[in-house]
Amino acid sequence: MGIIYNQSTRVFHLQAANTSYIMQVYDDGYLAHSYWGKKINKVNEKNILSLRGRGSFSPNTSNVNKVLTLDTLPQEYPAYGNSDFRTPAYAVQLENGSTVTDLRYDSHRIFKGKPMLRGLPATYVEKDDEAETLEIIMVDRLIGLKVILSYTAYKNFDVITRSVRFINRGESKLKILRALSMSVDFNSSKYDFMHLYGAWAKERHIERRPLLNGTQSVESRRGSSSHQHNPFIALLSKDATEDNGDVYGFSLVYSGSFLAQAEVDQYETTRVSIGINPFDFSWLLEKGEEFQTPEAVLVYSSKGIGEMSRTYHRLFRTRLCRGQFRDKTRPILVNNWEATYFDFNAEKIEAIAKVGKDLGIELFVLDDGWFGKRNNDNCSLGDWVEDRRKLPNGLKDLAERINKLGLQFGLWFEPEMVSPDSELYRQHPDWCLHVPNRPRTEARNQLILDLSREDVCEYIINSISNILKTVPINYVKWDMNRNMTEIGSECLPVERQRETAHRYMLGLYKVIDKITSDFPHILFESCSGGGGRFDAGMLYYMPQTWTSDDTDAVERLKIQYGTSIVYPVSTMGAHVSAVPNHQVGRVTPLKMRGDVAKSGNFGYELDLTKLSECEKEEIKVQIAEYKEIRELIQFGDMYRLLSPFEGNETAWMYVSEDKTEAFVAYFNVLAVPNGPIKKLTLKGLDEKKEYVIQGSKEVYGGDELMYLGLTLPETMGDYSSIIWRLKSKQ
Ligand code: DGJ
Repeated sequence: MGIIYNQSTRVFHLQAANTSYIMQVYDDGYLAHSYWGKKINKVNEKNILSLRGRGSFSPNTSNVNKVLTLDTLPQEYPAYGNSDFRTPAYAVQLENGSTVTDLRYDSHRIFKGKPMLRGLPATYVEKDDEAETLEIIMVDRLIGLKVILSYTAYKNFDVITRSVRFINRGESKLKILRALSMSVDFNSSKYDFMHLYGAWAKERHIERRPLLNGTQSVESRRGSSSHQHNPFIALLSKDATEDNGDVYGFSLVYSGSFLAQAEVDQYETTRVSIGINPFDFSWLLEKGEEFQTPEAVLVYSSKGIGEMSRTYHRLFRTRLCRGQFRDKTRPILVNNWEATYFDFNAEKIEAIAKVGKDLGIELFVLDDGWFGKRNNDNCSLGDWVEDRRKLPNGLKDLAERINKLGLQFGLWFEPEMVSPDSELYRQHPDWCLHVPNRPRTEARNQLILDLSREDVCEYIINSISNILKTVPINYVKWDMNRNMTEIGSECLPVERQRETAHRYMLGLYKVIDKITSDFPHILFESCSGGGGRFDAGMLYYMPQTWTSDDTDAVERLKIQYGTSIVYPVSTMGAHVSAVPNHQVGRVTPLKMRGDVAKSGNFGYELDLTKLSECEKEEIKVQIAEYKEIRELIQFGDMYRLLSPFEGNETAWMYVSEDKTEAFVAYFNVLAVPNGPIKKLTLKGLDEKKEYVIQGSKEVYGGDELMYLGLTLPETMGDYSSIIWRLKSKQ
């Protein structure tokens, strides 16, 4: 267990829970990749790397080894320019204009624990014996470039994390053109490529397709991780299913533009890499300066996609998310956005909160429109002062009234933005991202503040903190509603303009680190027009994210199912909204809306004062039930049973760690006439335990439920759902 180095063969063997990751310092000091997969206890080091001489179109770079060509050597952090023609992991331009570099092994160190990444989010350990870290120092002696490749192997998770630090130890300036967080070579191309794609209101749909010759990639050039592609890809063995087969996951702990790709080369090998998008990126390294890449989290599963997801869930829930709320069950909230949009006043808000209290809701969230003169989305972002026309006695008074009703109070901000129609913009027109003499493209009538600037970051910290200090706030929704255009900063010199987008991310991380640590009692939820920045980077600071602006129960099946490929349920906001649904106009029963939202951080987003008595009674029951099961849902293990991407039905379940309790949810989108009699086979239970289904006296064996299954009752009507709660008898 841990990280072993064999000095005579120069082989590194990293062992995570059930995983081995093996590499070797090969001839001439090249760092070769040998194996990543199911744990191997002892390797015959002669067996781990097989090379063959190739023709002159794969040049031989070595004087000592005539079969060594970098074009076929599986590498850990490949360069461009000296015979590897595949995708490089990095590229650096010298002052003489050349982009040829050559990294060779210099030294390494192995130690217990896992260091933090300066200025960047990353997974962590609480005790040093949870993981071991290997730092391999690679050097290009000609230019004095030092590159530290960091690997951490977790003892209890099938997780290897990787990141890279560049240091300029030479005499001249260097310009980094590309600095991916990792690269790994597989000796086969017989895999499928899986990723999560989408758009606003339909985030993180799953796509799986065969790997093909050439490069296949997903990326964001939007300055945020994006609705369109998530910073995650996986390679799956051809036979991989939810429960079987080899799965290799790659998740980037970063919230800005990224690139994730797989390249199949001429010899049917596959190179996978992930990191900051090199598109429109460069970073100047003056003498002595350093550059740190974000972290990539690599998960291996020999038991299919489901096990990969559960590994990500456990790791992200317990060793990425931080703060007081990490291990706490989350409050049931009502948010006024879909209830009122901008059209509200203090009485209306209080009226909604009052009904909410009667129904059992615990937190009221005041969304957009409470500040400046914001009656619509064309003004006031940046002016974080309450609108006295709507709230005549101020925000504090409203929050206190809500508290008096017995509810906590939460507030929406969009701190990274500025409206051209705002006091802030009139005072500081230079504070937004822009380039000289070009129009500033607006989206939703707003511009983005330049968070690469110290003064702008200070303004955000102070203006938001002033409110958090004076108003009794327990929850903040941190929104961000547009992507970056004209990415340039007035404060950066010409040769650093292409650093702006990444400097923005560093500024954002600094701001949210400061605010979240200054107000540890506040639960922060990030949001970007729903799930436009649902990534591991944001989760380090804010333990939950608004999953999507699409609250339709049917659409949510795909969104929540797709999101669960990587992200734990405790991170997903899920609300019951009114019908006809505001995004798609669909009318679904309150029961299905409730059952879908229960599979997340539960809440409501509708005008509770307009509910009928009958609806109120149903909601009271939903809330009471969620209070009983939320610990299981938010912190249990999730098993996906039926995929909404494969048919009319969806099912998933949550099992407590000790397997004594489970919650199963089944959804049938369209009614089927005279359909087959179906059984739902469950997962994750204890074969030897006996389970009772709440509301019935029947007893079922865990083995029976998992192999024979539960008979699905016939459902009538479209959009039906059934939930079961299981408790073990022992
Ligand atoms: C986008 C968010 O996703 C919504 O929930 C809401 O907060 C609006 N912004 C408010 O402008």
